[in-house]
Amino acid sequence: MSILIKNGRVITASDDCQADIFIENETIRAIGKDLDMVADETIDASGKLVFPGCIDPHVHLDMPFMGTYSSDDYETGTRAALFGGTTSVIEFILQTQGDTLHNALKTWQEKSIPKAVGDFGYHMAVTDFNDDVAKEVVQMIEEEGISSFKTFMAYKGALMIDDGQMVQLMKVVKKHGGIVTVHATNGDMIDSLISKNLEAGNTKPLYHYLSQPEVTEAEASGRFCDMLNYTGCPGYIVHMTCEGALNAVRKRTQRNQKVFVETCTQYLMIDASLYEQEDGAKWVMSPPLREKKDQEALWSGINQGIVQVVGTDHCPFTLEQKAMGKDNFAKIPNGHPAIEHRIEFMYSEGVRKGKISLNKFVEVCSTNAAKIFGMYPKKGAIGIGSDADIVIFDPNKEHTISVDTHHMNCDYSGYEGWKVTGKTETVLLRGKVAISNNECHLNPGDGKFIPRGKSSMVI
Ligand code: URP
Ligand code: ZN
Ligand code: ZN
Repeated sequence: MSILIKNGRVITASDDCQADIFIENETIRAIGKDLDMVADETIDASGKLVFPGCIDPHVHLDMPFMGTYSSDDYETGTRAALFGGTTSVIEFILQTQGDTLHNALKTWQEKSIPKAVGDFGYHMAVTDFNDDVAKEVVQMIEEEGISSFKTFMAYKGALMIDDGQMVQLMKVVKKHGGIVTVHATNGDMIDSLISKNLEAGNTKPLYHYLSQPEVTEAEASGRFCDMLNYTGCPGYIVHMTCEGALNAVRKRTQRNQKVFVETCTQYLMIDASLYEQEDGAKWVMSPPLREKKDQEALWSGINQGIVQVVGTDHCPFTLEQKAMGKDNFAKIPNGHPAIEHRIEFMYSEGVRKGKISLNKFVEVCSTNAAKIFGMYPKKGAIGIGSDADIVIFDPNKEHTISVDTHHMNCDYSGYEGWKVTGKTETVLLRGKVAISNNECHLNPGDGKFIPRGKSSMVI
């Protein structure tokens, strides 16, 4: 099977040119002006942008969390991702405290392999580190294609590890060429602020925000960087939200350490004033939404190269699930639906509003995640020999975000009525048309596990 994409404006992290792309089976075989190859199918991309399939390295699908499960599973989640132009995701396996990494891996394989519509990899969340787990960490990198290890500095009693475990984990991961990623907030401080607020009868969603002030994230981000520097391990801070945390990293990068930063679309677009609304639970997530000044800091962090990746932290819960915390903000499952619209938001809010260039857009939505997490140039690139994961994007199409039209398994949108310019039109996954004419043509099981190599230390 071959496909020729003709007349598109091809954008990569470094290039911007008018070119045709010839695909044979799963792979890009040729790129050039006016290619004269004959293909089984030709797609006319005149007037469209053509860029590498995007990668969301921060999603939670069917994840057990806060007494329930995130409402998108591998089928609905990866399909919604494809509709938006995200062809690969990296999801989180959660080790159960007291149990092995291999048991957790088996559980996740069972729920992902038969169901995934788009491609996927796993970060392994280490929630309980000891000598036996250290041996498993090595096996994950060397044998299972899992080279990134997620840690939590918060959610004590469920997911958090202490600093001693963190440093020991970093030493093993460094030795074997992996990377440690982190939810960097000061869990003890947050837990005490939550208790104080609840004791005072402050139960509304606004107090979720007020229990996680900026300093809790800035402190933990700096501490994480210092532990990385001490161990020499490369690291990656997920879902950074604020100026204080960014400045903590900015200061550490002056000593040239390897630390990468991810932010998410919500932290660039919406702010904490939403917590004052009656339906504020829709946006309860950790860390919480911040202020307008933080959005500016994050956009500038992207342009300065301190923030390398924009993900979503997609972790949807239905309104019924959110209502578990109607009398107590600490019981609202944390997270919101986001996997589908990241690319359209980054284009509409970022590129069209002049905040980032088209090349930067591709870099932060696709290429950098592929490099950092050991998938480049198979993923994240339009190059000879790369997987033919390709987005054909209409830069002028206007549309409105709504629960009525989204494909995520969630009965609300956090962006209802938001007007967007730019729409994902056609998506190829490894040379197959996955999305066209607003339909998905792939099935559960068509998405494949991506065995990842060792992390790139420099991007
Ligand atoms: O609120 C969030 N972020 N939910 C998902 C779990 C996490 O901390 O990433
Ligand atoms: Zn987190
Ligand atoms: Zn997350």
